[in-house]
Amino acid sequence: MVGSLVATAFWAMLPAYVPNNAAVLAGGGRPIDGGRELRGARLLGDGKTWRGTAVGTAAGVVLALALNAVVDPVSGAVGVDLPAFELPAAVALAAGAMAGDIGASFLKRRSGRERGAAFPGLDQLDFVAGALAAVFLVAPAWATAVFTLPVVAVVVVMTPAFHLVTNVGAYALGVKAEPW
Ligand code: CTP
Ligand code: MG
Repeated sequence: MVGSLVATAFWAMLPAYVPNNAAVLAGGGRPIDGGRELRGARLLGDGKTWRGTAVGTAAGVVLALALNAVVDPVSGAVGVDLPAFELPAAVALAAGAMAGDIGASFLKRRSGRERGAAFPGLDQLDFVAGALAAVFLVAPAWATAVFTLPVVAVVVVMTPAFHLVTNVGAYALGVKAEPW
């Protein structure tokens, strides 16, 4: 029961987890805010780029399509009826995750935090909030069927731990500047 909730939560959130990691690898180039400032601080900062956002979103969508190709064998192997991703849901999960992360940078700059500064809580859940808000907006029927209340609860509890592990890993590998 709990195992199937965790499996569903992890599977359904994969297209929202991967964009951030892909953006770290692909980042660079022109910042989204074009260097603009608001009241003496950058609007978003150099850590939010067009290339990172585009590659991150594309990576999430491609992953969702790849998961669709293996949803039957994987469901059989783990004994859980995992959902396939409708294209609008896949796009919403990936783009929503990127948007949530960008929104968090906006809030970080407004609260005086420099690029790369930690904002505990927000860092771990910004992309979850963005992905869930977007998928419920864009694909409400799919989202309601997949993200039941227990699944959302598991996502909210599990994601911070998972986020911490992947970011410490990326930091240890030298691909990320900070371990958060
Ligand atoms: N990145 C990007 N575009 C995005 C998100 C991330 O290019 N939309 C890249 C940037 O190179 C960024 C790195 O991934 O520096 C790490 O992402 P993140 O930790 O989200 O950004 P920070 O540099 O820590 O900036 P901020 O303080 O605004 O979160
Ligand atoms: Mg950061």
